[in-house]
Amino acid sequence: MDQQLPLKSIKGHKRNREERYMKERQTVGTQRKGETDCCMAMKNTVKKLTHLTKYFFRIEQAHNIDNLKLDKLHLIDYACRNAKIESFADLGGVWGVNGGYTFYGIKKHKIKTAFLVDTDFTKEVLKKSKKHRGLTLINANFGDRNVIPQIGKVDAIFLFDVLLHQVNPDWDEILQMYAASTRCFVIYNQQFIASEKTVRLLDLGYEEFFQNVPRAKDNPLYNEVFEKMYEIHPRHNRIWRDIHNIWQWGIVDEDLFAKMKELGFTLQYYKNCGQFYNLKNFENHAFVFKKNRYAV
Ligand SMILES: C[S@@+](CC[C@H](N)C(=O)[O-])C[C@H]1O[C@@H](n2cnc3c(N)ncnc32)[C@H](O)[C@@H]1O
Repeated sequence: MDQQLPLKSIKGHKRNREERYMKERQTVGTQRKGETDCCMAMKNTVKKLTHLTKYFFRIEQAHNIDNLKLDKLHLIDYACRNAKIESFADLGGVWGVNGGYTFYGIKKHKIKTAFLVDTDFTKEVLKKSKKHRGLTLINANFGDRNVIPQIGKVDAIFLFDVLLHQVNPDWDEILQMYAASTRCFVIYNQQFIASEKTVRLLDLGYEEFFQNVPRAKDNPLYNEVFEKMYEIHPRHNRIWRDIHNIWQWGIVDEDLFAKMKELGFTLQYYKNCGQFYNLKNFENHAFVFKKNRYAV
């Protein structure tokens, strides 16, 4: 096994608020409300110039020129080379990266068949996907059982920064649902290190919740979740408490390992990629799990 040790309110009318939120979700990539396409293009150019300057001066970087995390790219490379991946499904691959990991995987590893599943596609993804005949976009919640037959069998399932968001079905049920569809899970997740057992972050209570999520108490979406906790979200058709757009779980490694073992998968690669943002209780951990020979 390749292992890098140690293992280790907003105010205003209800509808306006909803519309504002929806609009925010529909913007392209990391574009902010009120930001024009021109601003966005300038921001991207500045990012690329910064990258090139750092490259020139040999300053170590965590991202590539397209602002994709190098640790995730290495994870894709490792899985594709060592588990002979010829097809994959990237579950939740859009926000902030516009399907960047899907497009990287397809190009770098000459993947013929790929699926990108998300509830929030952007113009950029739709445009870029047209150049890739083997790529199928699935605009759906990947926790919906109808998505599984649309994907069929793939060599790998990518779950980057998404497991901690999954409720009903929960993160471990998602793994169970997709286990028969693949022989390899490639996972990058913000893992909880402040407890022995996995915790539902909302169960920690208001104050502690905000100490463990990368959003402030005045964040409009999080405010709305607390206001409408048990009301049905109109778009997701589930209570606000269970939507995937907020941080939901503090998953501990031991629980993930136990679930994968139960499903017949063995850990092939592990990397602790360090603390996530300013959250002292969360670390980015990277995993590749391969299905055991006789597992179904
Ligand atoms: C935090 S972003 C991660 C984006 C990308 N995978 C990365 O690593 O940068 C989570 C993405 O997954 C999508 N997502 C999360 N849970 C989902 C679900 N159950 N069904 C469909 N999309 C989901 C969100 O819409 C968003 O685009």
